[in-house]
Amino acid sequence: MTGRSDDRRVRIYEVGPRDGLQNESTPISAADKLRFIELLADAGLREIEATSFVSPKAIPQLSDADELLAALPRREGVRYPVLVPNERGLARAEAAGVDAIAVFTAATDAFAEKNIGMTVEESLAAFAPVLARARELGWWRRAYVSTAFGCPYTGRVKPQTAVDVARRLLDLGVDEICFGDTIGVGVPNQVGELVNLAQGAGIRVSRQAFHFHDTRGTALANVTASLAAGVRTFDSATGGTGGCPYAPGAAGNLATEDLVYFLDASGWTHGVDLDGVLAAARFIADRLGKPLSTKVGQAGGWDHQTGRATGREAEPRP
Ligand code: HMG
Ligand code: MG
Repeated sequence: MTGRSDDRRVRIYEVGPRDGLQNESTPISAADKLRFIELLADAGLREIEATSFVSPKAIPQLSDADELLAALPRREGVRYPVLVPNERGLARAEAAGVDAIAVFTAATDAFAEKNIGMTVEESLAAFAPVLARARELGWWRRAYVSTAFGCPYTGRVKPQTAVDVARRLLDLGVDEICFGDTIGVGVPNQVGELVNLAQGAGIRVSRQAFHFHDTRGTALANVTASLAAGVRTFDSATGGTGGCPYAPGAAGNLATEDLVYFLDASGWTHGVDLDGVLAAARFIADRLGKPLSTKVGQAGGWDHQTGRATGREAEPRP
Protein backbone atom coordinates (compact mmCIF):
# COMPACT_ATOMS: atom_id res chain seq x y z
CA MET A 1 0.00 0.00 0.00
CA THR A 2 1.52 3.29 -1.11
CA GLY A 3 -1.12 5.66 0.23
CA ARG A 4 -1.30 7.09 -3.28
CA SER A 5 -4.58 8.75 -4.19
CA ASP A 6 -5.87 8.18 -7.72
CA ASP A 7 -8.77 10.59 -7.69
CA ARG A 8 -8.85 13.84 -9.63
CA ARG A 9 -9.75 16.01 -6.64
CA VAL A 10 -7.25 18.63 -5.49
CA ARG A 11 -7.33 20.71 -2.29
CA ILE A 12 -6.33 24.32 -2.73
CA TYR A 13 -5.16 25.80 0.57
CA GLU A 14 -5.28 29.59 0.30
CA VAL A 15 -2.49 31.51 2.04
CA GLY A 16 -3.14 35.00 0.60
CA PRO A 17 -4.39 36.66 3.79
CA ARG A 18 -1.39 35.32 5.77
CA ASP A 19 1.68 34.67 3.62
CA GLY A 20 0.41 37.02 0.93
CA LEU A 21 0.18 39.99 3.25
CA GLN A 22 2.87 39.34 5.87
CA ASN A 23 5.66 40.82 3.76
CA GLU A 24 3.70 43.82 2.46
CA SER A 25 4.57 47.20 3.95
CA THR A 26 1.38 48.98 2.82
CA PRO A 27 -0.91 48.72 5.84
CA ILE A 28 -4.13 46.87 5.06
CA SER A 29 -7.02 47.50 7.45
CA ALA A 30 -8.70 44.64 9.29
CA ALA A 31 -11.90 45.50 7.40
CA ASP A 32 -10.15 45.04 4.05
CA LYS A 33 -8.57 41.78 5.21
CA LEU A 34 -12.03 40.55 6.20
CA ARG A 35 -13.42 41.56 2.81
CA PHE A 36 -10.55 39.73 1.09
CA ILE A 37 -11.31 36.58 3.12
CA GLU A 38 -15.01 36.87 2.25
CA LEU A 39 -14.21 37.17 -1.47
CA LEU A 40 -11.98 34.09 -1.22
CA ALA A 41 -14.76 32.11 0.44
CA ASP A 42 -17.20 33.39 -2.22
CA ALA A 43 -14.81 31.99 -4.83
CA GLY A 44 -15.20 28.53 -3.30
CA LEU A 45 -11.97 28.33 -1.29
CA ARG A 46 -12.59 26.09 1.71
CA GLU A 47 -9.26 26.47 3.53
CA ILE A 48 -8.14 30.03 4.03
CA GLU A 49 -5.11 30.69 6.24
CA ALA A 50 -6.40 33.83 7.88
CA THR A 51 -3.52 35.36 9.87
CA SER A 52 -0.73 34.64 12.36
CA PHE A 53 -0.58 34.81 16.15
CA VAL A 54 3.08 35.78 16.13
CA SER A 55 5.03 38.65 17.63
CA PRO A 56 3.71 41.97 16.28
CA LYS A 57 7.34 43.09 16.10
CA ALA A 58 8.18 40.17 13.83
CA ILE A 59 5.22 40.68 11.48
CA PRO A 60 3.64 44.13 11.92
CA GLN A 61 1.15 43.64 9.08
CA LEU A 62 -0.61 40.85 11.01
CA SER A 63 -0.57 42.54 14.42
CA ASP A 64 -4.38 42.85 14.20
CA ALA A 65 -4.86 39.06 14.33
CA ASP A 66 -6.97 39.11 17.53
CA GLU A 67 -9.24 41.84 16.17
CA LEU A 68 -9.50 40.11 12.79
CA LEU A 69 -10.52 36.74 14.22
CA ALA A 70 -13.02 38.36 16.57
CA ALA A 71 -14.77 39.94 13.59
CA LEU A 72 -14.41 37.07 11.12
CA PRO A 73 -17.75 35.52 10.18
CA ARG A 74 -17.15 31.75 10.07
CA ARG A 75 -18.80 30.03 7.14
CA GLU A 76 -20.01 26.49 7.35
CA GLY A 77 -17.53 24.17 5.67
CA VAL A 78 -14.66 26.69 5.59
CA ARG A 79 -11.52 26.18 7.68
CA TYR A 80 -9.57 29.27 8.77
CA PRO A 81 -6.19 28.10 10.08
CA VAL A 82 -3.79 30.52 11.77
CA LEU A 83 -0.04 30.33 12.33
CA VAL A 84 1.04 29.71 15.92
CA PRO A 85 4.73 29.71 16.89
CA ASN A 86 4.53 29.06 20.65
CA GLU A 87 2.28 28.77 23.70
CA ARG A 88 1.64 32.49 23.74
CA GLY A 89 0.29 32.21 20.19
CA LEU A 90 -1.77 29.21 21.20
CA ALA A 91 -3.39 31.14 24.06
CA ARG A 92 -4.26 33.96 21.67
CA ALA A 93 -5.68 31.48 19.17
CA GLU A 94 -7.75 29.81 21.86
CA ALA A 95 -9.15 33.15 23.01
CA ALA A 96 -10.01 33.98 19.40
CA GLY A 97 -12.01 30.79 18.97
CA VAL A 98 -9.93 29.19 16.21
CA ASP A 99 -10.15 25.48 15.49
CA ALA A 100 -7.22 24.99 13.11
CA ILE A 101 -3.56 25.93 13.54
CA ALA A 102 -0.28 25.64 11.72
CA VAL A 103 3.06 25.46 13.50
CA PHE A 104 6.12 26.29 11.45
CA THR A 105 9.75 25.34 11.53
CA ALA A 106 12.36 24.58 8.88
CA ALA A 107 14.78 22.04 7.54
CA THR A 108 17.68 24.29 8.59
CA ASP A 109 18.62 25.79 11.94
CA ALA A 110 19.82 28.97 10.27
CA PHE A 111 16.40 29.80 8.86
CA ALA A 112 14.48 28.65 11.93
CA GLU A 113 16.65 30.85 14.14
CA LYS A 114 16.09 33.93 11.98
CA ASN A 115 12.38 33.27 11.56
CA ILE A 116 11.28 32.08 14.99
CA GLY A 117 14.33 32.54 17.19
CA MET A 118 14.76 28.80 17.78
CA THR A 119 16.81 25.97 16.35
CA VAL A 120 14.82 23.21 14.69
CA GLU A 121 15.25 21.04 17.80
CA GLU A 122 14.11 23.88 20.06
CA SER A 123 11.11 24.49 17.85
CA LEU A 124 10.06 20.85 18.07
CA ALA A 125 10.27 21.07 21.85
CA ALA A 126 8.22 24.29 21.80
CA PHE A 127 5.57 22.78 19.52
CA ALA A 128 5.06 19.62 21.59
CA PRO A 129 2.79 21.21 24.25
CA VAL A 130 1.12 23.44 21.64
CA LEU A 131 0.18 20.47 19.47
CA ALA A 132 -0.83 18.36 22.46
CA ARG A 133 -3.22 21.06 23.66
CA ALA A 134 -4.57 21.63 20.13
CA ARG A 135 -5.22 17.92 19.85
CA GLU A 136 -7.07 17.92 23.19
CA LEU A 137 -9.23 20.74 21.86
CA GLY A 138 -9.94 18.76 18.69
CA TRP A 139 -8.31 21.32 16.41
CA TRP A 140 -6.94 20.54 12.97
CA ARG A 141 -3.13 20.72 13.01
CA ARG A 142 -0.67 21.41 10.19
CA ALA A 143 3.12 21.77 10.36
CA TYR A 144 5.31 23.57 7.86
CA VAL A 145 8.83 22.49 7.03
CA SER A 146 10.32 25.58 5.39
CA THR A 147 13.52 25.65 3.33
CA ALA A 148 12.71 22.11 2.17
CA PHE A 149 14.70 22.62 -1.05
CA GLY A 150 17.12 25.38 -0.16
CA CYS A 151 17.98 27.85 2.58
CA PRO A 152 18.77 31.53 2.06
CA TYR A 153 21.52 31.26 4.70
CA THR A 154 23.08 27.84 4.24
CA GLY A 155 22.26 26.87 0.65
CA ARG A 156 21.35 23.41 -0.59
CA VAL A 157 19.16 21.22 1.60
CA LYS A 158 19.21 17.46 1.33
CA PRO A 159 15.69 16.05 0.97
CA GLN A 160 16.35 13.58 3.78
CA THR A 161 16.92 16.52 6.14
CA ALA A 162 13.48 17.95 5.36
CA VAL A 163 11.91 14.49 5.69
CA ASP A 164 13.56 13.88 9.07
CA VAL A 165 12.04 17.09 10.45
CA ALA A 166 8.67 16.22 8.89
CA ARG A 167 8.70 12.79 10.50
CA ARG A 168 9.37 14.31 13.93
CA LEU A 169 6.45 16.70 13.42
CA LEU A 170 4.16 13.87 12.39
CA ASP A 171 5.16 12.07 15.58
CA LEU A 172 4.03 15.16 17.51
CA GLY A 173 0.53 14.52 16.17
CA VAL A 174 -0.01 16.85 13.21
CA ASP A 175 -2.64 16.05 10.60
CA GLU A 176 -0.65 17.39 7.70
CA ILE A 177 2.91 18.23 6.76
CA CYS A 178 3.47 21.10 4.38
CA PHE A 179 6.86 21.28 2.68
CA GLY A 180 7.76 24.88 1.91
CA ASP A 181 9.97 25.97 -0.96
CA THR A 182 10.49 29.22 0.90
CA ILE A 183 12.81 30.87 -1.60
CA GLY A 184 11.52 29.10 -4.72
CA VAL A 185 14.57 27.12 -5.79
CA GLY A 186 13.08 23.62 -6.17
CA VAL A 187 12.57 21.86 -9.50
CA PRO A 188 10.29 18.92 -10.42
CA ASN A 189 12.73 16.04 -10.07
CA GLN A 190 13.56 17.20 -6.54
CA VAL A 191 9.86 17.31 -5.69
CA GLY A 192 9.36 13.72 -6.81
CA GLU A 193 12.36 12.64 -4.78
CA LEU A 194 11.10 14.42 -1.66
CA VAL A 195 7.59 12.94 -1.95
CA ASN A 196 9.00 9.45 -2.31
CA LEU A 197 11.43 9.83 0.57
CA ALA A 198 8.65 11.17 2.77
CA GLN A 199 6.44 8.22 1.86
CA GLY A 200 9.31 5.91 2.68
CA ALA A 201 9.44 7.56 6.12
CA GLY A 202 5.76 6.74 6.65
CA ILE A 203 4.32 10.12 5.64
CA ARG A 204 1.50 9.17 3.28
CA VAL A 205 0.86 11.42 0.29
CA SER A 206 -2.58 12.20 1.73
CA ARG A 207 -0.76 13.89 4.64
CA GLN A 208 1.65 15.83 2.43
CA ALA A 209 1.07 19.34 1.09
CA PHE A 210 3.35 21.59 -0.93
CA HIS A 211 3.85 25.33 -0.64
CA PHE A 212 5.74 26.72 -3.61
CA HIS A 213 7.01 30.25 -3.80
CA ASP A 214 7.26 31.10 -7.48
CA THR A 215 10.51 33.01 -7.24
CA ARG A 216 12.03 31.36 -10.31
CA GLY A 217 8.88 30.39 -12.18
CA THR A 218 9.02 26.70 -11.30
CA ALA A 219 5.94 26.49 -9.04
CA LEU A 220 3.44 25.06 -11.55
CA ALA A 221 6.01 22.63 -12.89
CA ASN A 222 6.52 21.52 -9.30
CA VAL A 223 2.77 21.11 -8.84
CA THR A 224 2.75 18.83 -11.90
CA ALA A 225 5.52 16.72 -10.39
CA SER A 226 3.71 16.56 -7.03
CA LEU A 227 0.46 15.49 -8.71
CA ALA A 228 2.30 12.77 -10.60
CA ALA A 229 3.76 11.58 -7.29
CA GLY A 230 0.26 11.40 -5.74
CA VAL A 231 0.10 14.64 -3.72
CA ARG A 232 -3.25 16.43 -3.87
CA THR A 233 -2.88 19.49 -1.61
CA PHE A 234 -1.30 22.77 -2.73
CA ASP A 235 -0.91 26.16 -1.16
CA SER A 236 -1.36 29.29 -3.20
CA ALA A 237 -2.01 32.98 -2.68
CA THR A 238 -4.66 34.88 -4.60
CA GLY A 239 -2.94 37.77 -6.34
CA GLY A 240 0.43 35.99 -6.19
CA THR A 241 1.63 38.00 -3.21
CA GLY A 242 3.80 36.60 -0.46
CA GLY A 243 7.24 36.08 0.90
CA CYS A 244 8.83 35.92 4.28
CA PRO A 245 10.66 38.92 5.75
CA TYR A 246 13.19 36.44 7.20
CA ALA A 247 13.88 34.79 3.83
CA PRO A 248 15.79 37.27 1.71
CA GLY A 249 15.18 36.63 -1.97
CA ALA A 250 11.76 35.02 -1.53
CA ALA A 251 9.12 36.19 -3.98
CA GLY A 252 5.39 35.63 -4.12
CA ASN A 253 3.56 32.38 -3.65
CA LEU A 254 2.18 30.44 -6.55
CA ALA A 255 -0.87 32.51 -7.51
CA THR A 256 -4.24 30.85 -6.84
CA GLU A 257 -5.54 32.14 -10.20
CA ASP A 258 -2.62 30.53 -12.05
CA LEU A 259 -3.13 27.26 -10.13
CA VAL A 260 -6.90 27.23 -10.73
CA TYR A 261 -6.51 27.88 -14.45
CA PHE A 262 -3.93 25.12 -14.73
CA LEU A 263 -6.02 22.59 -12.77
CA ASP A 264 -9.24 23.41 -14.65
CA ALA A 265 -7.60 23.05 -18.03
CA SER A 266 -5.91 19.81 -16.98
CA GLY A 267 -9.11 18.12 -15.79
CA TRP A 268 -8.62 18.31 -12.01
CA THR A 269 -11.55 19.25 -9.79
CA HIS A 270 -11.21 21.56 -6.80
CA GLY A 271 -14.43 23.56 -6.33
CA VAL A 272 -12.86 26.99 -6.83
CA ASP A 273 -14.21 29.48 -9.35
CA LEU A 274 -11.61 31.33 -11.40
CA ASP A 275 -13.66 34.49 -11.89
CA GLY A 276 -14.25 34.67 -8.15
CA VAL A 277 -10.52 34.30 -7.48
CA LEU A 278 -9.78 37.03 -10.03
CA ALA A 279 -12.25 39.35 -8.30
CA ALA A 280 -10.47 38.73 -4.97
CA ALA A 281 -7.05 39.16 -6.63
CA ARG A 282 -8.07 42.51 -8.11
CA PHE A 283 -9.49 43.62 -4.79
CA ILE A 284 -6.29 42.94 -2.85
CA ALA A 285 -4.03 44.35 -5.59
CA ASP A 286 -6.10 47.52 -5.50
CA ARG A 287 -5.78 47.77 -1.71
CA LEU A 288 -2.03 47.20 -1.94
CA GLY A 289 -1.84 49.89 -4.62
CA LYS A 290 -0.13 47.55 -7.06
CA PRO A 291 -1.01 46.26 -10.50
CA LEU A 292 -2.06 42.61 -10.51
CA SER A 293 1.04 40.99 -11.98
CA THR A 294 0.12 37.30 -12.07
CA LYS A 295 -0.07 35.57 -15.44
CA VAL A 296 -3.79 34.72 -15.31
CA GLY A 297 -4.50 37.97 -13.46
CA GLN A 298 -3.24 39.81 -16.52
CA ALA A 299 -4.45 37.53 -19.31
CA GLY A 300 -7.69 36.18 -17.77
CA GLY A 301 -8.68 32.55 -18.23
CA TRP A 302 -9.46 30.59 -21.37
CA ASP A 303 -12.35 28.18 -21.71
CA HIS A 304 -11.11 24.98 -23.27
CA GLN A 305 -14.63 23.95 -24.34
CA THR A 306 -15.52 27.11 -26.20
CA GLY A 307 -12.04 28.33 -27.01
CA ARG A 308 -12.84 31.76 -25.60
CA ALA A 309 -11.02 34.02 -23.17
CA THR A 310 -12.77 34.39 -19.81
CA GLY A 311 -12.55 36.33 -16.60
CA ARG A 312 -11.25 39.64 -17.88
CA GLU A 313 -14.39 41.49 -16.91
CA ALA A 314 -14.37 40.32 -13.28
CA GLU A 315 -13.90 43.43 -11.16
CA PRO A 316 -13.55 43.78 -7.41
CA ARG A 317 -16.94 43.81 -5.77
CA PRO A 318 -17.71 46.82 -3.62
P1 HMG B 1 11.73 35.96 20.16
O1 HMG B 1 12.08 37.41 20.15
O2 HMG B 1 12.82 35.00 19.80
O3 HMG B 1 11.14 35.42 21.52
O4 HMG B 1 10.50 35.75 19.21
P2 HMG B 1 10.54 36.04 22.82
O5 HMG B 1 9.81 34.92 23.45
O6 HMG B 1 11.66 36.71 23.57
O7 HMG B 1 9.46 37.15 22.40
C1 HMG B 1 9.79 38.43 21.93
C2 HMG B 1 8.61 39.34 22.08
O8 HMG B 1 7.49 38.84 21.37
C3 HMG B 1 8.13 39.47 23.54
O9 HMG B 1 7.55 40.74 23.64
C4 HMG B 1 7.05 38.44 23.62
O10 HMG B 1 6.09 38.71 24.60
C5 HMG B 1 6.41 38.56 22.26
P3 HMG B 1 8.34 41.98 24.30
O11 HMG B 1 8.70 41.52 25.67
O12 HMG B 1 9.56 42.19 23.45
O13 HMG B 1 7.38 43.10 24.23
N1 HMG B 1 5.77 37.33 21.80
C6 HMG B 1 4.55 37.31 21.23
N2 HMG B 1 3.65 38.26 20.98
C7 HMG B 1 2.50 37.89 20.40
N3 HMG B 1 2.25 36.61 20.02
C8 HMG B 1 3.12 35.63 20.25
C9 HMG B 1 4.34 35.97 20.89
N4 HMG B 1 5.41 35.24 21.25
C10 HMG B 1 6.29 36.09 21.81
N5 HMG B 1 2.85 34.40 19.86
C11 HMG B 1 8.79 34.52 18.03
C12 HMG B 1 10.03 34.44 18.91
C13 HMG B 1 8.46 33.12 17.56
C14 HMG B 1 7.64 35.07 18.87
C15 HMG B 1 9.06 35.49 16.85
O14 HMG B 1 10.28 35.15 16.25
C16 HMG B 1 7.96 35.45 15.83
O15 HMG B 1 6.85 35.87 16.09
N6 HMG B 1 8.26 34.95 14.61
C17 HMG B 1 7.27 34.80 13.56
C18 HMG B 1 7.92 35.02 12.23
C19 HMG B 1 6.92 34.80 11.13
O16 HMG B 1 5.72 34.88 11.31
N7 HMG B 1 7.44 34.52 9.91
C20 HMG B 1 6.63 34.31 8.76
C21 HMG B 1 5.84 33.06 8.79
S1 HMG B 1 6.77 31.63 8.34
C22 HMG B 1 6.73 31.64 6.63
O17 HMG B 1 6.34 32.60 6.04
C23 HMG B 1 7.11 30.38 5.89
C24 HMG B 1 5.89 29.62 5.37
O18 HMG B 1 5.11 30.45 4.53
C25 HMG B 1 6.33 28.37 4.60
C26 HMG B 1 7.41 28.65 3.54
O19 HMG B 1 7.25 29.59 2.73
O20 HMG B 1 8.41 27.91 3.57
C27 HMG B 1 4.98 29.14 6.51
MG1 MG C 1 5.58 30.91 2.49
